[in-house]
Amino acid sequence: MYYPDDVIEEVRTRNDIVDVISQYVSLKKKGANYFGLCPFHNEKSPSFSVSPGKQMYYCFGCGAGGNVITFVMEYENYSFVEAVKMLADRAGITLPEVEYSKEAKAQADLKNTLLEINRLAANYFYYQLKQPQGKAGYEYLRRRELSDETIRHFGLGFANKVPDDLYRYMRSKGYSDQILKETGLFFIEERGARDKFWNRVMFPILDVNNRVIGFGGRVMGDGEPKYLNSPETKLFDKSRNLYGLNFARTSREKYMLICEGYMDVIAMHQAGFTNAVASLGTAFTPQHAVLLKRYTDQVILTYDSDGAGVKAALRAIPILKDVGMSVRVLNMKPYKDPDEFMKNLGKEEFQKRIDQAQNSFMFEISVIRSQYNMQDPESKTGFYNAVARKLLEFPEKLERDNYTEAVAREYMIPADDLKRLVSALGSQMGTGVRAREYGEAKPVKKKEKEDGIKKSQRLLLTWLIERPELFSKIEGIISPEDFADELYRNVARMVFEEHEKGNINPAQILNQFIEGEEQYREVAALFHASLAESLNNEEQKKAFCETVKKIKKNSLDEQSRRANDIVQLQKIIRQQSELKNLRIDLD
Ligand code: UTP
Ligand code: MN
Repeated sequence: MYYPDDVIEEVRTRNDIVDVISQYVSLKKKGANYFGLCPFHNEKSPSFSVSPGKQMYYCFGCGAGGNVITFVMEYENYSFVEAVKMLADRAGITLPEVEYSKEAKAQADLKNTLLEINRLAANYFYYQLKQPQGKAGYEYLRRRELSDETIRHFGLGFANKVPDDLYRYMRSKGYSDQILKETGLFFIEERGARDKFWNRVMFPILDVNNRVIGFGGRVMGDGEPKYLNSPETKLFDKSRNLYGLNFARTSREKYMLICEGYMDVIAMHQAGFTNAVASLGTAFTPQHAVLLKRYTDQVILTYDSDGAGVKAALRAIPILKDVGMSVRVLNMKPYKDPDEFMKNLGKEEFQKRIDQAQNSFMFEISVIRSQYNMQDPESKTGFYNAVARKLLEFPEKLERDNYTEAVAREYMIPADDLKRLVSALGSQMGTGVRAREYGEAKPVKKKEKEDGIKKSQRLLLTWLIERPELFSKIEGIISPEDFADELYRNVARMVFEEHEKGNINPAQILNQFIEGEEQYREVAALFHASLAESLNNEEQKKAFCETVKKIKKNSLDEQSRRANDIVQLQKIIRQQSELKNLRIDLD
């Protein structure tokens, strides 16, 4: 933290969340809460709620949530410190001089300096493009049908045909070799220094806050490598940034388009598809998926139509499904990539392809199909078996049946025959025959179980915050240490502690998590789940008891795995058997 906790707390409490959010979003009161259209995703009916009691907001549509400070951070693209400053100003609070630890200050300074240098470099490249020496670059981009407006929008530029142009410019601005080394823009050796990018058109890479974090440079024409990219630096983490996301995040479409390259993103945006992003040379990572999930839960893959593109799509699909995305795949044939498609067939045709994009499962099946020769009976049987095995990846029968029918229709296989094959293979799997081949089945189950326990912990925390009288019901049974998930355990410690003191204050607890982005989202969601999952009917009262038991059981199981002396173990076993008879009466 840069400011002492009590200062942050004062800033928070002196800015009423309903007042602040009302400046940005039109809110209507409904019961104890206020509702409006979510400013963080595109929606037509209000699912964005603000609770004056908790001083928190939460969107049931996109999961955005937090307190007044995180709202300003997200809405204005501010850092934590910037948001605190703005809110302090608004409430007329004078902030103390910032307290940095020496190390934190050095790190922050280094990052800021690197950002400054990147911004200067981007401006420099941009300027060169319009100069006589940048003519080749400008003409190259125009030949690729980019408009002046597009070149400006993406800040495209040109690196001169001089080996140390940018280096000398930066030195003239007073930057040392030591710091210039960290930018990844230069080769600095004893013999001298050179620019990394030389005689190339330049693509600045921006993060979601529109800050330049790296560059790509393309040769004009043929030459190796075609694209040169900034290395990873203190600013640039390739697995966590997507090209074009700074624009795509505010697009009005429900889905995002994922493609492979710079020119694809730019061509799509120029044609009006401003929801396109690219993972740039590196494979699509789980971190990319988590990042995208903040803005959408539907994606369309527009990877190249060659073998490498198909492979990339097959790898990205499970990563995206894992975070709960619905995935479709666009067919670009006969063109190689979105850029070429747009040039040849135009945006109306592209929109048609979007509308026709294939469900990712059906895409996977079509790839499997291409590996078999349907004229050969043996190969054909092989295809049917492969399809049946793939269908078994759906754990839910209903969903599996729906897909079985769809595949049967598409490939003209009698549906009943395919269903029989699927269930025959399924029962073979069940008896362990050829079980190794179906390695996926197990991890999926384990994950479901973990999610179940996580959900129980979340529910219990939610209920305790909502109805503090429930603390008396779990006294002596559950303590914060019974929460297996580390994040929830930390939250539980604070919630229990505040309850002891007589007042649970979710928005204040949330402050402790603001600096870990993913964490505060999760904690914010946790505090708001109660609006949807409150304890008002018989079924839910029963659920309370079950939830407590589940958490305790999981905790005891874990303790017994770790126990290393017999006395301890006996105590755990006694608790385990007592737990079986536990009844909690809520009335
Ligand atoms: P492609 O080879 O498909 O290029 O690489 P492209 O996007 O069609 O580029 P143009 O149209 O020929 O200009 C896709 C992406 O992979 C990365 C780049 O991000 C590129 O946009 N790449 C490719 C590199 O990083 N280095 C390379 O040498 C090639
Ligand atoms: Mn291309």
